[in-house]
Amino acid sequence: MNTTKKTVKDYIRTIVDFPHEGILFRDVTTLFADPRGFRMCIDQLLHPYAGERIDKVVGLEARGFIIGGAIAHQLSVGFVPIRKKGKLPGKTLAQAYKLEYGEAIMEVHDDAVQPGEKVLVVDDLLATGGTAEAGIKLLEQMGADIIGCAFIIDLPDLGGRKRLEALGMDVEVLCEFEGL
Ligand code: PRP
Ligand code: MG
Repeated sequence: MNTTKKTVKDYIRTIVDFPHEGILFRDVTTLFADPRGFRMCIDQLLHPYAGERIDKVVGLEARGFIIGGAIAHQLSVGFVPIRKKGKLPGKTLAQAYKLEYGEAIMEVHDDAVQPGEKVLVVDDLLATGGTAEAGIKLLEQMGADIIGCAFIIDLPDLGGRKRLEALGMDVEVLCEFEGL
């Protein structure tokens, strides 16, 4: 394949039956490992927000940290992690969300975003939207102005985009994969 014509989606590897039989795991490590792919990914994630004020970039654990850090650096703004329970050392706000089996909790430092700050939320993948919704609820509790939610991959069959749009979010994705 002519590498100059490769898209972000072309750099994403699919692993069959991971972490469970029947799941096609969309692996972005191959995208991140390629210098052209990684730069294209960061540039394209930022493109819809050109000219918009962004005060902070918020990344969802774990792969959202990789792209969120790069985007924040590119914009010369701060980066805020939203982490799984028990990882952040300071005073936190917590928000539960549903997993396939059971529940998990996301946390953010309660002073990480100031009321009225304009934030961009990023993660690698939008599936059911549960993780992102938990992050959105935490940011709204802090009074953040969420200007958008950007993902590398959307799995449209799982309905995450519609779920976030129903919350009033502007959602941008770089590519879609059909099926789970
Ligand atoms: C994956 C992915 C998203 C989330 C999307 O993370 O990186 O963060 O699932 O799923 P949802 O839209 O149904 O909530 P995972 O929970 O596997 O954890 P990790 O990123 O820490 O590996
Ligand atoms: Mg994740």
